[in-house]
Amino acid sequence: MNPEKLCQLAKEAMTHAYAPYSGYKVGAALLCADGTVYQGCNIENASYSPTNCAERTAFFKAVYDGHKDFVAIAICGGKDGVITGRFPPCGVCRQVMREFCNEDFKVYMITPEGYEERTLADLLPDSFSL
Ligand code: THU
Repeated sequence: MNPEKLCQLAKEAMTHAYAPYSGYKVGAALLCADGTVYQGCNIENASYSPTNCAERTAFFKAVYDGHKDFVAIAICGGKDGVITGRFPPCGVCRQVMREFCNEDFKVYMITPEGYEERTLADLLPDSFSL
């Protein structure tokens, strides 16, 4: 699974978004060590705070199915599903990544031209784990 293919799957996942409040559709594709890919989308709520981000949807689906080894995630988002720039993961999602992933876990932030690559260490230095 190359990054380009993972990014394609994130774009497809974005079409599943439930975002009637913000209008921002977000998609994620999470690559497991065994090659399995889990897709996620944001799922909003009228009460706002129960909203689940696309990244966490993907992680929680994967963990439920027994996966705990992850290699990379591709993320995209934009108003009405139009990608105008990168869509960096929020702090809560970064901490969820930290729970399951090493510092070299790759994060591909999709842009209109392609993607920007970061590691979890780039995005969440000196982070908390037990
Ligand atoms: N959102 C995500 O899905 N992932 C993030 O990392 C940041 C924010 C969603 C939540 C909400 O539905 C919309 O984007 C606007 O904040």
